Amino acid sequence: MALSLSPAVASIAARLRAAGCVFAEDEARLLVSAARTPAELDDMVDRRAGGLPLEHVLGWAEFCGLRLAVDPGVFVPRPRTEFLVRRAAALARPGAVVVDLCCGSGAMGMALAAAVGPVELHAVDLDPAAVRCARRNLAPLGGQVYEGDLYAVLPAALRGRVDVLVASPPYVPTGAIGLLPPEARVHEPRVALDGGADGLDVVRRVVAGASGWLAPGGHLLVETSEGQARETAEAAARAGLAARLTYDEELDATAVIGTSADGARGGRPG
Ligand SMILES: C[S@@+](CC[C@H](N)C(=O)[O-])C[C@H]1O[C@@H](n2cnc3c(N)ncnc32)[C@H](O)[C@@H]1O
Repeated sequence: MALSLSPAVASIAARLRAAGCVFAEDEARLLVSAARTPAELDDMVDRRAGGLPLEHVLGWAEFCGLRLAVDPGVFVPRPRTEFLVRRAAALARPGAVVVDLCCGSGAMGMALAAAVGPVELHAVDLDPAAVRCARRNLAPLGGQVYEGDLYAVLPAALRGRVDVLVASPPYVPTGAIGLLPPEARVHEPRVALDGGADGLDVVRRVVAGASGWLAPGGHLLVETSEGQARETAEAAARAGLAARLTYDEELDATAVIGTSADGARGGRPG
């Protein structure tokens, strides 16, 4: 049975639908419940109808059943990345040392800590806006967030101690950026999307550097696309990790898991 909409929600939904929002009714309800004043509601509807991602208008996103802050200009966590979190959670134990490279808002680290229990959490991003946002999300968990390029800014004391290293780096080939929906292309930073000519520039560097940081039996989990998975797994094998591919049809999600030698330590096989 279709639920009837209040006149305010119905008129906002009509405006959002005309602007091309597919889930116009749901979005209208969220905006109405988030706005504190009619003027704020007008402003939010204007920004959404103008193409700003809903999460940037609201200031938060839902990820793995959690609500986390996502500031304008910061990558909006995607449902498909929940697959990587599930696989990582199956490999981690409370107290594990967890590193989230290319952390964006800090979504993966936050969700992993919620799933696993207290972990020693470290996160890295190159983009100052993402770092500010991740610090807000991860501070209540005691997570440390570093600003800079991949491993270069991790404390040296973590070398050889990381139990689970997760990464969702930019992996869109430069030539395909123009094909992304405007919400991503226009409102998310290029550094969050563009993975270079074949999309694997950052992925390769993540994989190549992992073994120096992983604990014996530690795991690297990298999100990639189906078409890039084989090459990513080969890179992990070249880096000395036991590599396997894993795929979730429902979420259309692909991950490569690389495990360092001495799998007797560090968790259950995934
Ligand atoms: C696809 S987004 C993923 C963000 C987050 N992991 C998530 O799933 O929501 C990629 C992130 O990698 C960051 N990034 C890109 N190149 C980087 C680099 N060389 N070192 C650290 N972070 C980088 C971007 O700033 C962006 O926040």
